[in-house]
Amino acid sequence: MDGDATDSGETTGAGSGPEPGPEHDAVDTGTAHSARIDDYVIGGKDHFPADREAGDAMVREWPALPVHMRANRDFMNRAVRHLAREAGIRQFLDIGSGIPTSPDLHEITQAAAPDARVVYVDNDPLVLDLSRDLMSGTPEGRTAYLRADMRDPAGILAAPELRTALDPGLPVALTVIAIVHFLLDEHDAVGIVRRLLDPLPPGSHLAMSIGTADFAPEEVGRVARAYAARGMPMRLRTRAEAAEFFTGLDLVDPGIVQVHRWRPDGAGTEVVRDADIAMYGAVAHKH
Ligand SMILES: C[S@@+](CC[C@H](N)C(=O)[O-])C[C@H]1O[C@@H](n2cnc3c(N)ncnc32)[C@H](O)[C@@H]1O
Repeated sequence: MDGDATDSGETTGAGSGPEPGPEHDAVDTGTAHSARIDDYVIGGKDHFPADREAGDAMVREWPALPVHMRANRDFMNRAVRHLAREAGIRQFLDIGSGIPTSPDLHEITQAAAPDARVVYVDNDPLVLDLSRDLMSGTPEGRTAYLRADMRDPAGILAAPELRTALDPGLPVALTVIAIVHFLLDEHDAVGIVRRLLDPLPPGSHLAMSIGTADFAPEEVGRVARAYAARGMPMRLRTRAEAAEFFTGLDLVDPGIVQVHRWRPDGAGTEVVRDADIAMYGAVAHKH
């Protein structure tokens, strides 16, 4: 397991860091990768032939996959906007941030509050390269990048970049969007999220989306097998299993629902059916 915080960066204005691209020695472009498959399926431009082959195969298994992935991004957008505007959160710790796709989390939060601070964490070197290059925050705010594995929560919390960017005395929104389906039972996803949340002060929030096969079991099962065949085994969760992440927290309305049903704002023009969405979403508040 790549358990260490191996690479990091921070910017208070223009982006910095190495050029993105296949020349980065730690980027394995010959094997499909979850972040790049997502990017391909939702129409981004940062992917390689292996990612496109995987994405095409998955869409053949479940043609609703692009609708599902866009609905997840839209949920992230609405949840983070709620946290910045209504809950007044000014610090964000985003785990499994993914390839930059506008609007990104810091754009949403810093539009609401220019002084918002965001730490992006991902274990994929390409994600970090692109993030540093493309995601420059406001001059008043702060945007930092940490290459680390979610399975090492203590390493994330101890990383100097995180300690520099975030004030430990102020509430933090921990955002864990579309990633825990890559954590298997032996990884103890609930325990990992708990260990990330526990040190955060009262008033902090948890926002998550959690993969499920509850609504299209056959199709989503086929997609999960396609990921597993490419070295990315998945653990999909029932609603009751999704609820375990929120034990002891106060769920904000409407609780744990499919992502497209979490405070829809009518912005999308797409018709979304429940059977097209394989993700629960929720936001909760810590006392
Ligand atoms: C499906 S993407 C989700 C990206 C973004 N949160 C979103 O919802 O659009 C999952 C991301 O989690 C990252 N990831 C997967 N396993 C990880 C781990 N163990 N630690 C840190 N990041 C991980 C991947 O590199 C990828 O960028």
